Amino acid sequence: MTRKKIIAGNWKMFTTVSAGVALATEINMGLQTRDLSNKKAIVIPPYTHIHAIINAVGANGNLGVGAQNCHQQKEGAYTGEISPVTLKEMGASYVIIGHSERRQYFNETEELLNAKIKAALAEGLTVIYCIGETLSQRESDTHFAVIEAQIKGGLEDISTEEMNNIILAYEPVWAIGTGKVASPAQAQEIHQFIRGLINAKYGNAVAKNICIQYGGSMKPENAAELLSQPDIDGGLIGGAALKAEQFLAIIDAA
Ligand code: 13P
Repeated sequence: MTRKKIIAGNWKMFTTVSAGVALATEINMGLQTRDLSNKKAIVIPPYTHIHAIINAVGANGNLGVGAQNCHQQKEGAYTGEISPVTLKEMGASYVIIGHSERRQYFNETEELLNAKIKAALAEGLTVIYCIGETLSQRESDTHFAVIEAQIKGGLEDISTEEMNNIILAYEPVWAIGTGKVASPAQAQEIHQFIRGLINAKYGNAVAKNICIQYGGSMKPENAAELLSQPDIDGGLIGGAALKAEQFLAIIDAA
């Protein structure tokens, strides 16, 4: 069986609202002439852009729209935070949870991420759960243990049924924004390991179905080889997602 390739652009804190609408519109136009029967494209702008982008590209068109984070509560006195209920109402279908930048700069722990995943799933959002080791973890040969702990902690008490709404993204921290991409063999080794962990916990049907994206300096030049690995089911793209032409070229490589 072939899994659909899912290509998502994580825009991070780049673009203004107007520039974001223009970028999403250009990507959406590009999708109209492409065969998407076996792939899915998603843009993940800052929260502030979501409503305007959905207005521009349509809620049920070719282009999925997501958010980069959400709070673990539906509402409350949490100044500056965003509720998964609001994301859903705005029309977002996806939410990234556990990006390494959130883990690193906002001290997000596995316990917190697990609560966020549950809150997002409860609102019907599809979660893109990010995992991946730092350079020092890889150099000290602890990367397999790190990833196992991230899977175990983040997915604690997530049911087999809920796994239908989870995408995993393996993003080695040393490859994010550095131009240093994991080799296809390095990435495949980890993706296969992750699928094995999912198989052990949820069984073969879930493991065979789950989308495991690669993220970290994926570009048009290296996408085809990465995406041709048997366990790499898509990409979570940072820098190259900010140019419609490059993002579309990665979609073409999928
Ligand atoms: P880059 O593609 O810029 O390395 O970013 C990857 C990433 O962090 C996507 O979430």
